[in-house]
Amino acid sequence: MKDGKHHKHEGLWRRNKAKCVCVLTVAALMVVVVVVGATVVYQFFWPQVTVYVPVNFEDKLKEVCVSPRLSPLEYKGVESFFHYLESPDVDHCYSWVEFGGEKIPIPSQSEKECSDEVRKVKYICFNEEYKMTHDPCLVYSFTKDMDNQFERDMQLFSCEVHAFDHEKVSEAEHVQRSEFWMEHAWAISEAPYDKPEKDGSIQRRRSLDYITQALGHNKRELKFLKSDLEGREWILLRQVISNIKLLDIQQIGVRLHLPTTVNQMSGEARHQYFAKMFKVFQGLQCAGYKYVMGRAVKYYKGFIRIPEINNRTFYPAYEVNWAKVL
Ligand SMILES: *[C@@H]1O[C@H](CO)[C@@H](O)[C@H](O)[C@H]1NC(C)=O
Repeated sequence: MKDGKHHKHEGLWRRNKAKCVCVLTVAALMVVVVVVGATVVYQFFWPQVTVYVPVNFEDKLKEVCVSPRLSPLEYKGVESFFHYLESPDVDHCYSWVEFGGEKIPIPSQSEKECSDEVRKVKYICFNEEYKMTHDPCLVYSFTKDMDNQFERDMQLFSCEVHAFDHEKVSEAEHVQRSEFWMEHAWAISEAPYDKPEKDGSIQRRRSLDYITQALGHNKRELKFLKSDLEGREWILLRQVISNIKLLDIQQIGVRLHLPTTVNQMSGEARHQYFAKMFKVFQGLQCAGYKYVMGRAVKYYKGFIRIPEINNRTFYPAYEVNWAKVL
């Protein structure tokens, strides 16, 4: 009886032990599945998984301005915006080189547009410290021109150029034009998503962190960020500030657009509008980007009239350059 009892106990213990081992094995297997699963997601879907948490521009701006690299700018009304726009530090760059800008006639352009050199030319500061003649040279171009002159010039100069244009790049999502010239059917935005268009097509909107991750450019030096976007340049610049540690951008050359709708705004609305735009200037200043060139683009219709500055008028677009103080 005793033995029997003993055996019974042992059996129970064995069964419990087996149960215990079984539960542990299942738990261990689950951990393995989760780890492997997470690794697979990390490996194959990392850009898509991470970028859906958009960076808050205002938070990033505060962060960048905690220890500003150049003396912070203060917004004191609409005047401060135009005062900044009209006061580039023209002494910073002692050497400039033009890219793009050859006057090749394009059927859709008027002669006036074609001969507007401000629209076509991008200037790059060739000061010693920017090492423009050193490899590697990586360049981003947001919205290409009809004639691709900027991209052609950049690759002739041995720079790896990536052009982003969802309208003019239509053959595929990515097009390799030559060894150092790639095009992507992507539009800049705050978060990556595919936006269905009325005509049934899809506009692939991509954030800057998505772009650098997808192209394997994280932490790389970007010699020049060029934009000929028509309005979305403000999103691009906010993205640059929000992702300041993502890319080491040396120089920025963009066509800035100011909508003539500001003429119809009330004083308070205009004040708020330019305060928001001015944050981009403030962010770039804090991040150490010096405003080094500003030229009015004169061929656009209309003008901006600013009651706060005795009804002075300004052009609706400016070509502006920033260079990082190294
Ligand atoms: C600016 O223009 C508006 C509208 O034409 C006019 O009412 C106003 O007096 C002008 N202000 C100045 C300072 O000239």
